[in-house]
Amino acid sequence: MVPEEIREQARELRDRINYHNHRYYVLDDPVIADVEYDRLFRRLQELELEYPELITPDSPSRRVGGAPLAGFEEVRHVHPMLSLDNVFSEAELAEFEEKLKRYLKSTEPITYIAEPKMDGLAVELVYERGVLVTGATRGDGLVGENITPQLKTVQSIPLKLQGHESAVPEQLVVRGEVFLGREGFAALNRQRAEAGEPLFANPRNAAAGSLRQLDPKVTARRPLDCFVYAAADSGTVPCARQSELFSWLAGLGFAVNPYIKLCHGLDDVQAHYAHLLELRDTLAYEIDGMVVKVDDFSLQQRLGNTTRAPRWAVAWKFPAVQATTTIEKVEFQVGRTGAVTPVALLKPVNVEGVVVQRATLHNQDEIKRKDLRIGDTVLIQRAGDVIPEVVKPVVEKRTGNEQAIIFPETCPVCSHPLLRPEGEAVTRCVNPHCPAQRLQNLIYFAGKSGMDIEGLGKKNVEQLVSEGLVADIPDFFRLRKDDLARLDGWGEKSAEKVVAALEKAKQTSLARFLGALGIRYVGEVTAALVARHLDTLDAVMAATKDDLLAIEGIGEQAAASLVDYFSDPSTRDMIDQILSEGLTILPPVEGEQPLTGRVFLFTGTLNSMGRSEAKQIVKELGAQVVSGLSNRVTDFVAGEKAGGKLKKAQERNIPVVSEDEFFKIIGRSEG
Ligand code: IVH
Repeated sequence: MVPEEIREQARELRDRINYHNHRYYVLDDPVIADVEYDRLFRRLQELELEYPELITPDSPSRRVGGAPLAGFEEVRHVHPMLSLDNVFSEAELAEFEEKLKRYLKSTEPITYIAEPKMDGLAVELVYERGVLVTGATRGDGLVGENITPQLKTVQSIPLKLQGHESAVPEQLVVRGEVFLGREGFAALNRQRAEAGEPLFANPRNAAAGSLRQLDPKVTARRPLDCFVYAAADSGTVPCARQSELFSWLAGLGFAVNPYIKLCHGLDDVQAHYAHLLELRDTLAYEIDGMVVKVDDFSLQQRLGNTTRAPRWAVAWKFPAVQATTTIEKVEFQVGRTGAVTPVALLKPVNVEGVVVQRATLHNQDEIKRKDLRIGDTVLIQRAGDVIPEVVKPVVEKRTGNEQAIIFPETCPVCSHPLLRPEGEAVTRCVNPHCPAQRLQNLIYFAGKSGMDIEGLGKKNVEQLVSEGLVADIPDFFRLRKDDLARLDGWGEKSAEKVVAALEKAKQTSLARFLGALGIRYVGEVTAALVARHLDTLDAVMAATKDDLLAIEGIGEQAAASLVDYFSDPSTRDMIDQILSEGLTILPPVEGEQPLTGRVFLFTGTLNSMGRSEAKQIVKELGAQVVSGLSNRVTDFVAGEKAGGKLKKAQERNIPVVSEDEFFKIIGRSEG
């Protein structure tokens, strides 16, 4: 028997954690610090471990993914999940409206709602008495696959609906799109390339692949997101129109896309289309068009559906960001880990305003799978900031003069024989002294994901290496102002800046330093995990594989790679040299931090640092940062041109902090 007070405690923890999840993942406005959240989470996990009968389907602990499934069960949708008809131009959109009016036998103006068309995967979520009980893929529209445990790992999908019991329907079936943001997609493909696994062609495939994992723990590691956009049966919701549905769903705790617009007539629809098209590349996720829906549910009812798609909605697709060109040559690049990547040199072609002349061919298998040849006319595509890629050859255009792409057998840089381990897609140069790898490693060390040394971007590191000033990591810290100032394109000022940046970088955290070394399978996240558990560099260097495997989240490959790396005497020698150049690893900041409990809001321009840097600093000191003005804000930092928010803060008597005062708070000024 579970004591009543424990039961109560678990209930309260669940509610609190669910609330904070929503603040963090849906509203993007957290109200507690990460450490505090972790504490709540751990406490719930402990209780559930001790009393497994406390585990409820809506427990946030279920988000980490349970046991792997043997296979997916089928789920029959109560209402079919339809597709959408497409239009590609204003003229076709106008035809859509004419059809609507003919069908409705009306000439009345129609109000629409226009929404971004998410490029992800449609899912159905079934809630009973407010608790998520089933989640399914679309499948063939009539029968989908049960992926409930996988969907529970998606943080923006509520496990339990918010609001008063009386306001939550007995059963609610909502539909939405699960997707992977651009950043998550790029990171995932980076990891896969490292591991020699086949790459995902686009975020959509990556999202699909992540959801269709029999092991939900794998899904849990992918930063999937979800926007909802429909109720399976609009007759079951207390709303008369789509626009009301969105606010109602948001009130229940769902995430809805912020770029949804109510449109009075087609002019409005067109304007929103133009707006979204402009926003397209700046969004954190991919959209492939806009969905236009008749807003009024009673009109939707009258219009009904065909077997394939609703008559009351249409997808207005964006023009494809694709183009055709020819492959002139193929180059083989050697990366940081020795991976050899074939790169197609293309006849330059303009793709939506960006000139593309190189595209990755990924690896040998991809070249074979797509059957690409030198001289081929190819279809290429550019997806946001993702590297352009070759989609397929235009076979009809072949002349017979195309040449096979031959993968080299030796490293194009050091001539060492290349190796392709069995079962891996990647071919590698395994020469540890390969200059190409060394260069990439140095670029990585100094770059944004590494020590982030200002002034030492790719070009400059290449120059330092070719000038013989830097051959290995410790050399960075031996750079003198005079050596730099003499270089082509440098001057006193830039040299001074780099030396100062290097000096600053010497005070670093264990996580950053470990991550910067570029150890295989040890990216930022793994490095942070190791640092959090082992505290000191000595401890990391002394750790055995078992010590590392004991850390939750560290896998076989990373553990083996770390041990391998630090057992190499030349690594130890390099670390000694770095330390003797004055690199200091600062002790981790634990528990109560200087700004714990404070809530910062930044507005206006700061003169001496960027806003994102300022935010990062206060977060590292334990504070939270919010973007919305509320009474929880303890420090309203007003830079120059703070504008309307400042006025509102003053009206509401929220303490306003000047830039100078802010510097005092974070300990960066004497005063
Ligand atoms: S409404 C019956 N709204 O597009 C109405 N769909 O091509 C069907 N999609 O299967 C869906 N964003 O996966 C709707 N804002 C949005 C959407 C959206 C993306 C997807 C959805 C659907 C596909 C149809």
